Amino acid sequence: MTGNQAGDTLVKGSTNTDYPWDEFDPYAYWQHNYGVLREDDRKMVEQARDFFAGIRDVYDAEGLDVGTGPNLYPALAMLPLCGKITLWEHSRANVEWLEREVLNHSPTWDPFWNVLTEKSRYQKVGDSRSAIARRAVVRKGSIFDLPRAKWDVGTMFFVAESITTAKLEFERAIRSFLDALKPGAPFVIALMENSEGYRVGTHFFPAIRVDKDVVRRKLISYAPDVVVRHIDSDGLLREGYSGMILAHGRLRK
Ligand SMILES: C[S@@+](CC[C@H](N)C(=O)[O-])C[C@H]1O[C@@H](n2cnc3c(N)ncnc32)[C@H](O)[C@@H]1O
Repeated sequence: MTGNQAGDTLVKGSTNTDYPWDEFDPYAYWQHNYGVLREDDRKMVEQARDFFAGIRDVYDAEGLDVGTGPNLYPALAMLPLCGKITLWEHSRANVEWLEREVLNHSPTWDPFWNVLTEKSRYQKVGDSRSAIARRAVVRKGSIFDLPRAKWDVGTMFFVAESITTAKLEFERAIRSFLDALKPGAPFVIALMENSEGYRVGTHFFPAIRVDKDVVRRKLISYAPDVVVRHIDSDGLLREGYSGMILAHGRLRK
């Protein structure tokens, strides 16, 4: 993701449907964001790993990653807990990219998997390529159309705050994701902190500024034990944000 610059296709509007999601460029985004493992993403992966590795009562479960885009590491992080993982993505271009990527994923995900397999729970998965190819299912759909109480485990990385500038829509996105999970489900949510929006290829996409306290206030009634942390950015991704936020917890039973 890079900041808005002169020459971008600026799309005016503030709600999710105002932006050209089908024209999201998965290759540009994937190369820029995940071509190499940055330090800030390493910390996100480590914290998601340590949280999921500590969940002992969920296995062979159904996982959900919402707004997957060109990012496989949330799905990789859920592998020890899941027999099936639904990748729920809105953009046609990202859906097509994902359908190819899950069949035999790129070596750029290997450094992410190496961080995950520092924990024995992940080593037991075996080969991540064949595990993703067998267990991941790509679905085209909006976060706002998710069925309720269907999945046992969930992840949502850089979505609720990065698909709109409208506060009510951000809140609706958080609710839709959490409502799609069953009571007691473990989840990890990642957000850009104080993001001003981002450019992918020639298009500019929206964001709403959120910080750790806002995120905690939104999640606490769903998950009283939620842990919300700020993660320093290494500054290599782009300008126009002040770090990342990672939240994990289990839904109230
Ligand atoms: C900033 S990207 C994050 C992608 C990826 N999860 C990551 O970690 O890098 C936002 C993603 O949300 C998707 N998206 C936009 N509107 C959506 C909606 N209404 N429902 C579900 N996903 C949506 C976009 O297509 C894009 O893949």
